[in-house]
Amino acid sequence: MNGDISDIKLIEEKITQLRNRLNRANYEYYVLDNPVLSDIEFDTLLRELADLERMYPQFADENSPTVKVGGEINKDFKQVEHRYPMLSLSNTYSKQEIIDFVNRAEQALGIRNSQWVCELKYDGLAISLLYENGKLVRAVTRGNGVQGDDVTSNVKTIKSVPLSLLGDDFPKDFEIRGEVVFPHDAFEKFNKKRIENGEEPFANERNAASGSLKMQDSKQVAQRGLDCYLYYLIGDDVKEQTHTQRLEKAKHWGFKVEKYYSVVNGIDEIMEFIDYWEKERFNLPFATDGIVLKLNEIKYWNQLGSTAKSPRWATAFKFKAQQAQSRLLSVEYQVGRTGIVTPVANFEPVWLGGTWVKRATLNNEQWMQNLDICQGDTLVIEKGGEIIPKIVECHHDETFEGGLKRVEFIHDCPICGAELVKEEDQSGWYCPNYNHCQPQILGRFQHFISKKAMNIETLGGEKMRYLLSSKKVIDFYSLYTLTEFDLVGVYQIDSEHKLSIQDKGAYNIITSIEKSKQVPFERVLYALGIRYIGEVTAKTLAKHFTNIDNLMNASIEELQNVNDIGVTTAKSVFDYFHNEENLLQIEKLKSVGLKFEIDTQNIKNTLQGKSFVVSGTFSRFSRDEIKKMIEDNGGKNVSSISSKTNYVLAGEKMGPEKKKKAESLSIPIISEEDFIAML
Ligand code: IVH
Repeated sequence: MNGDISDIKLIEEKITQLRNRLNRANYEYYVLDNPVLSDIEFDTLLRELADLERMYPQFADENSPTVKVGGEINKDFKQVEHRYPMLSLSNTYSKQEIIDFVNRAEQALGIRNSQWVCELKYDGLAISLLYENGKLVRAVTRGNGVQGDDVTSNVKTIKSVPLSLLGDDFPKDFEIRGEVVFPHDAFEKFNKKRIENGEEPFANERNAASGSLKMQDSKQVAQRGLDCYLYYLIGDDVKEQTHTQRLEKAKHWGFKVEKYYSVVNGIDEIMEFIDYWEKERFNLPFATDGIVLKLNEIKYWNQLGSTAKSPRWATAFKFKAQQAQSRLLSVEYQVGRTGIVTPVANFEPVWLGGTWVKRATLNNEQWMQNLDICQGDTLVIEKGGEIIPKIVECHHDETFEGGLKRVEFIHDCPICGAELVKEEDQSGWYCPNYNHCQPQILGRFQHFISKKAMNIETLGGEKMRYLLSSKKVIDFYSLYTLTEFDLVGVYQIDSEHKLSIQDKGAYNIITSIEKSKQVPFERVLYALGIRYIGEVTAKTLAKHFTNIDNLMNASIEELQNVNDIGVTTAKSVFDYFHNEENLLQIEKLKSVGLKFEIDTQNIKNTLQGKSFVVSGTFSRFSRDEIKKMIEDNGGKNVSSISSKTNYVLAGEKMGPEKKKKAESLSIPIISEEDFIAML
């Protein structure tokens, strides 16, 4: 192309064409669940579009389908006010209260036989999407109902959220609200990966969905597989006069509106809907914790209005968690990466909430004692909107042969036999045989290679397990002496599985091992997997001691004097560096060139030039500690809010005047968690 006007015009047309085709393909795949393009066709078109956008930046569009793969980094999330407040719903577990609600509404309206729309109540995170001229311009979380966080760039990566609407009969501007959910299968995959990487799995889908939307790197959000269902269309120019007409319109414009809503007349049909979904909900691909009831006629919404918190034209019925009973068969003990021993109850399989359940965690010794679990007990197992079953009660079998026997926590490691130990203020027992206990070794290696540590993810899955079991790798150091020759081959993992590593794979592994030598000191420290040393603590220690020798020579008192380091952590670090094998390992890792010293050029004065007003009380640090952290990182503390203030760091009980002032000057109010993330 030589820049000729007509050529440029053709390019622009081609770009528009590609965008339209890809928008439609996303809709067909993620909303209609009816893909027309194959994955390869889709990827080819997407790549073609991305290439054209790179070559012709004048045609950039922040709502192009290429945005769906993410890329934008969120530094902080701007607080924005909702155009219409985001109310919540009144809710109840009682069917009688639902009857009362319907009767009250009918009485107030002076009607009978009212028409209601029954919907599922999604167990996720409420979101409000603002569209102008058919383009998504903003996505905001509920926050406190009046203002929420602007999470637009992360929401844009959710495949089912349309960036450009289909058709042409949408209002010029409107908001549509719904729920971001973490579908069961995506959640399971995501947690599995976290475990493989030595990270804590998320306990439930709602928290994981909400955590995902607050991530800094939108690329990571794009990979999580979140979904978004819409259920409430608002706007001064929305013409449709019933809720169902609005839902159907929204569907036509490309939104994902679930197909299970139902228009009903009268209490009996409402109850039928509730009863049906109470059982069927477990067969859905996402979590629901109840049903929502809305009057269909919009004119009634206006007539009834809302209380301060919730509308009088809609309410929610919440499902009770489902329960089942089963007999305890055995208690087994699992050993994690850091040696923590977790008791797990095995019981006779029971059908609960759509799956067979046969095991559930007993958490720790104290938890077991509170439950007073005895051999042969009948367990009451519960499963709520989420998928993880939990034991809520147990009943003793008084006729148990030989009398009641309490299940006692074990004293020795079930894997290596070492005597378990417990720290004074901790609830869990752990196996201290750090260097020779198999699950600890595997877990430690998975942690070492994980993304936030040495980032050698090319060794993920079966490969690390194989290298350890074949003794090709015996310690971290031996990873650095591997050659491609050691790796290439086809290996029998067990009777059913083979592992094949080809030339290219071996090359990639060795390259990423080599690259990991550039990983900065704080991440190497985190990678070592010292008990209680997470990412943040590793950073603090690295910065304070600047190199591993200083850290190794620190006394417990010196360690405890570092911000944020308590007795338990100090002792854990001290013990780690007073173990001969660990010291030898560190010497060997030094010899292959890992970084054990902070890169002074890399110390960022993260808060350089930023001024903070700190107000209220905090849960993790004292106010003075927070102020010191601000200064240690190059920021400035100021006592009163002015237009020059960059952030207001708000704890609990922040003064209302300060809050008002910050809001009036649009100064971001950040929480303790936000602040820690900033560092
Ligand atoms: S309608 C003014 N419909 O439940 C009414 N909400 O406690 C707006 N929710 O904040 C809400 N499924 O996050 C509505 N089908 C549904 C819903 C739903 C889940 C959530 C929503 C809301 C909360 C109310």
